[in-house]
Amino acid sequence: MSRNNLKGWQQLETMAAASEGKQIKALFANDSERFANYHLAHSGILFDYSKNRISDDVKAALVQLARECEVEAWRDAMFAGDKINRTEGRSVLHTALRSDHCPNQAIGQQVQEELDHIRSFSERARSGQLFGYSGQVITDVVCLGVGGSNLGPEMVTEALPSQPGDTVKLHYISSVDAVPLEHLLAGLSAATTLFIVASKTFTTTETLLNAAAAKRWLLSEAPETAIALHFVAVTEDTDKAASFGITPDYCFRIWDWVGGRFSLWSAIGLPIAIGRGYSAFESLLSGASAMDEHFRSADIAQNIPMMMALVGVWNTTFLNINTLAILPYDQQLHQLPSYLQQAEMESNGKSVNWQGEHIQYNTCPILWGQTGINGQHAFYQLLHQGSHDVASDFIVSANSCAQSDIHHQHLLANCFAQSQALMNGVGEEEVKRELLANGLNNNEIEQLAPHKVHAGNRPTNTLIIDTLDAFHLGALIALYEHKIFVQGIIWEIYSFDQWGVQLGKLLATNMLGDVQPGSAVDRYDSSTNGLLNHIKSVSHS
Ligand code: F6P
Repeated sequence: MSRNNLKGWQQLETMAAASEGKQIKALFANDSERFANYHLAHSGILFDYSKNRISDDVKAALVQLARECEVEAWRDAMFAGDKINRTEGRSVLHTALRSDHCPNQAIGQQVQEELDHIRSFSERARSGQLFGYSGQVITDVVCLGVGGSNLGPEMVTEALPSQPGDTVKLHYISSVDAVPLEHLLAGLSAATTLFIVASKTFTTTETLLNAAAAKRWLLSEAPETAIALHFVAVTEDTDKAASFGITPDYCFRIWDWVGGRFSLWSAIGLPIAIGRGYSAFESLLSGASAMDEHFRSADIAQNIPMMMALVGVWNTTFLNINTLAILPYDQQLHQLPSYLQQAEMESNGKSVNWQGEHIQYNTCPILWGQTGINGQHAFYQLLHQGSHDVASDFIVSANSCAQSDIHHQHLLANCFAQSQALMNGVGEEEVKRELLANGLNNNEIEQLAPHKVHAGNRPTNTLIIDTLDAFHLGALIALYEHKIFVQGIIWEIYSFDQWGVQLGKLLATNMLGDVQPGSAVDRYDSSTNGLLNHIKSVSHS
């Protein structure tokens, strides 16, 4: 049965139509227990979804919709290793990288072998037992990768504060633009630098171009044999890595059942273990595993990933709120919005259903955001008074990793004040009263009042993490992963492929010859021809 014929779906459509003009703050006024009834907590994460336009009826219909879409059966199929990534004929088993519940022994053994490899290699690196071609200790690790082979490790190492034992400096290069790489290498010594080439396919142009440049840089002073001591690969295609010159001991495996944007739990996370210690990497996996267990076992209405997914479906599909701002109030999480952009938009940014039909409802919202405090001084104006209805996730930790309490108290106060302001707004009467109290005359009040009115009623979630450490970060990331999965099921989307990304890659490869100096191009549309020919006319090369 198609989604919009399901009973839960139809109820939600009716409720959405009737919700026009209903205020979240009125829901609070009518229910003193609203927070108690609309928050969940597990694995050191509190999820408050009370500041959404959700009543008990809506909640019940969302849970019914999840049941009708058989999300629990799909979830179990994912954990069991069924090939739910049907367009690529693959299992989806990133959960097997962090749990004892492997669908079969062979996978469990492979995972354990790679974990042992990550442990021994990272411990060697951190204890000064990795040496370059000249016998000097490796001091710097440059991680080359893009998308899922970069965003996760970089976001996590930024999020986890450096400890005294963190001896190796990590650097990340993801852009194909040569400027950051050249700038970085100019400050490094080839004799003490190790490169990690992270690419599941070992075919991604950006990464391979950077790896080739890094190799040239090394070989400009070192013999060919140095490659074996200065290059690590993390890949599914170990043959390609070997052709590059990477030795088995320096080659880490991932498998086709680990999607790129869900891969930080695999050897793609090697930089985390090198930079923050293997025990931190292990804690990250444990936190994710704790969230997995919750996701596997809790009833839908008590299940944080499921409820977070359902709230998102309500906002996007039924209330037509098509953007979601990710607003962390921890500076360490500054890369979380970018990370989640890929995780959500590459997974569910699709408009064709499992039957290959064009979808008639809104699917994945546009995700964006940045740290809340900086956002407050940039785009929050639009959140409060703009013409777009925006949903937001506020994320903050209860305990700070810093010494000073007062700074953290400011973060907390700002976080909670903003979500409250987005809900309550400021009505015209209140604005006028305030202006009158400030001594403005009637004429001035009439002119100024409309500009100071805040409509409010903006939906927000708030997530409080006990402490921003590896365990809780792991749980938080896994929570979003499972949310994405559930939404994909409800929208009938294949969440684990990314055909839309392939098209651009192919066209860029075909166009490469046309950006080089030479005769004018006329084989494209007039805009593309014009842009290419302009480059040829002004290029200095
Ligand atoms: O952006 C598309 C994509 O295929 C991602 O899914 C993936 O994380 C990234 O490219 C990098 O791919 P690879 O690890 O194969 O280099």
